[in-house]
Amino acid sequence: MTYVVIENCIACKYTDCVEVCPVDCFYEGENTLVIHPDECIDCGVCEPECPADAIRPDTEPDMEKWVEFNRKYAELWPVIVSKKEPMASAEEMDGKSGKMEFFSEAPGEGG
Ligand code: SF4
Ligand code: F3S
Repeated sequence: MTYVVIENCIACKYTDCVEVCPVDCFYEGENTLVIHPDECIDCGVCEPECPADAIRPDTEPDMEKWVEFNRKYAELWPVIVSKKEPMASAEEMDGKSGKMEFFSEAPGEGG
């Protein structure tokens, strides 16, 4: 089992989640984060920390595509362990549908 970051993180990226992860398994893209499914120890402490409700256990329905999405980009992006300012668009974009349209494959800065 693992937890994964889902679509509502895109263009919000609040980063509260990274501060509580005991194994530093969050990775940063330009406008979203992902969790490495092989590194996550399923502790669940990050889930309630996300203001955008964008973290889910993979035991929920239809999570397979998000596990693969998280795995793919965790292998490509730098690790992030420190909280940063949310994206400028965070408040406006929180809860919007169709956010994959805005997804960037570019890596974030990490840190
Ligand atoms: Fe880290 Fe625990 Fe969240 Fe997994 S469930 S990403 S180990 S805080
Ligand atoms: Fe994204 Fe929520 Fe973390 S918006 S960066 S999963 S706190």
